[in-house]
Amino acid sequence: MDKKAQASDAWFAAGDPSQPTRNELWEPVVISGQRIADEAERLLSLEVGDPIERQVRIVHPMACTKGLGLAPGIEVRLSALKPGERTKPFRHNATEVGFCIGGEGRLSMAGQSFGMTQYDVWNVPAWTSAVYENTGRTSQIRLTYSNAALLRLLNVHMVEDKAITGTTPETDTRPHGAPGTAKIRDLFQLADENWLMSYERLINPPAVESLPHRWDWQTVKAELDKLTALGDAYRGRRLYLLYNPLTGRTNGTTPSFFATMTVRPPNIVDRPHRHVSAAINYYFSGAGYSRVAGKHYDWRAGDLMLSAPGWAVHNHASRDQGPVYELTIQDQPFHIFQESLLWQESLASPPLLLGKQAGFETNRAELTA
Ligand SMILES: [Fe+2]
Repeated sequence: MDKKAQASDAWFAAGDPSQPTRNELWEPVVISGQRIADEAERLLSLEVGDPIERQVRIVHPMACTKGLGLAPGIEVRLSALKPGERTKPFRHNATEVGFCIGGEGRLSMAGQSFGMTQYDVWNVPAWTSAVYENTGRTSQIRLTYSNAALLRLLNVHMVEDKAITGTTPETDTRPHGAPGTAKIRDLFQLADENWLMSYERLINPPAVESLPHRWDWQTVKAELDKLTALGDAYRGRRLYLLYNPLTGRTNGTTPSFFATMTVRPPNIVDRPHRHVSAAINYYFSGAGYSRVAGKHYDWRAGDLMLSAPGWAVHNHASRDQGPVYELTIQDQPFHIFQESLLWQESLASPPLLLGKQAGFETNRAELTA
């Protein structure tokens, strides 16, 4: 019997774990630059109690009402501020990647303050209050990418609220990254070389400092443009990952996501490939097209796209209209940590479980020899 006996009962579902799971493929979707600009204008026209309210989520048509992501595990928010406006602080247990797509301003968090201008990227650690201010003369428009969509699906997205979490930024005085102080035998090996850990360590794991970082676009662009010289024979991607050292072997900008900046010289066509991680691209120069799960999608500067739903075969190509620059957000670090990142770099070869198996190589060494 694989149906519910009573609404209040757990039930037994028939299941042969060797049978493939039928995963739901979210259709790729392109949100045009014009739609984004129109929505930003609408946000700027609102009468609001606090400027933090000038925000919306950009939601995939197949998203459930709980997750509200643009990919199942990736929330994308569009935010706008008028000149002189400043948001109130808030914090939650999600991590974020921020991206300025218009205007400029200032971002304050964790006792630090960063200037930001168009195409700068930054991360916001979890449980860290961030305050945004528009110090410029034009509207400030931002995109924010967060794992809040996944946390909502797990029913544990916690936004700080005295009534719910019992804390406010003022009442939480414990420093971030405070080391554990347990002095007992909290981690040791048995004679058979297996490990045991005490309860004291379980509730006091080593705390590491999780810091905000800001990547200045002009500095990143100077490095990226050097990759253009690799020429047509190069079989990799001309990109750099905005790496946060906190994430170690999981290659992240946050523990959940990486942010990469890519340059695509005109008329470059990527090889078809696929990966378990989902990818969202924002194009801010040039134009091109993608083929995803057998369908064609055009895009150009200003467009936001769910460009790679998990495991869909895809490739991207630039047209003959100057270089394409794009920011890509993927939930790759999350999958490396989970040991779930299957990746097939060429459809002619089998997929590999990256982070567990040795990965792929490009021909870059030959080209630069
Ligand atoms: Fe990809």
